[in-house]
Amino acid sequence: MPPYAYFRKQFMPLAEAKIGILTHALHYGTACFEGIRGNWNDEQKQLFLFRVKDHYERVHKGCRILKIDPHYSVEEMMELTVKLVEKSGYHEDIYIRPLAYKSAEAIGVKLHDLEDDFLIIVTTLPAYLDADKGVRCCTSSWRRVDDTMIPARGKITGIYVNSALAKTEANEMGFDEAILLNHDGHVSEGSGENIFLVRDGKLVTPSGSDNILMGITRDAVIQLARNELGLEVVERSIDRSELYLAEEAFFTGTAAHVTPIVEVDRRDVGNGEIGKITKELQRLYFDVIKGQNPKYLHWCTPAYSKLVQAK
Ligand SMILES: Cc1ncc(COP(=O)(O)O)c(C=O)c1O
Repeated sequence: MPPYAYFRKQFMPLAEAKIGILTHALHYGTACFEGIRGNWNDEQKQLFLFRVKDHYERVHKGCRILKIDPHYSVEEMMELTVKLVEKSGYHEDIYIRPLAYKSAEAIGVKLHDLEDDFLIIVTTLPAYLDADKGVRCCTSSWRRVDDTMIPARGKITGIYVNSALAKTEANEMGFDEAILLNHDGHVSEGSGENIFLVRDGKLVTPSGSDNILMGITRDAVIQLARNELGLEVVERSIDRSELYLAEEAFFTGTAAHVTPIVEVDRRDVGNGEIGKITKELQRLYFDVIKGQNPKYLHWCTPAYSKLVQAK
């Protein structure tokens, strides 16, 4: 089955979906994108799309920042996504990549008076970070972009140069992932993940004003920690040195799931092993995203109708 895309108002094989080389978004990073997971539940022969509505609400927010006309309502984007996934017919975990972008084939740096378009790609994604073993991180020499430069609360393609600089620097120095500080020196996030620490038994995570992307996995983990584990969760600015003193640390993200951080700047986190709270949250999260926890089924959109399943 070839990968499919929704492009220029129709479903087509990904290989046929092409843009012109003058496309504004390609030159100036004027687009916002999403990453949405579809998680395969083998028992139910069903693909559950995780918090798809929240992802499209975030696309709409990004579009407001970039003056992009999203063309479709959140509900219409959800419907198109389910149709595309059904058409693609995967029986394994999938990754959905929507993109709202400045499609005008025009030179000139601006946001106004340019055509926009919206596309969706569905594909698979190999393990992004090692969620079983945990990851070794460094504090990046690159700082997170500030809201006054490019707002990090929008998932804006141009911002990802900041992330890519940090990620490659970390990998080339032998680490798995980078932790970026914001402009005032507080911990912001990973190159493509939010970060949590366990401090004195409480969960702490940078707040919305620390130049983070307001992660949907972050929100899910906060709710699971409070409601299922009875943990106190504090959203506040975090000092760099707290990374070295945390009992546990982990990343959250659509691509990264819940990934333990076992080392920061060549110091073990806690005793260097995956912590108890991290393990427990990982277990809860993996159950939830596969549609295996009835209490959180409202976060999971089944992609396959009974008709398709019966084929
Ligand atoms: C910079 C950044 N921070 C955090 C996240 C995590 O966000 P979410 O959990 O919504 O995928 C992502 C990934 O989307 C990201 O790119």
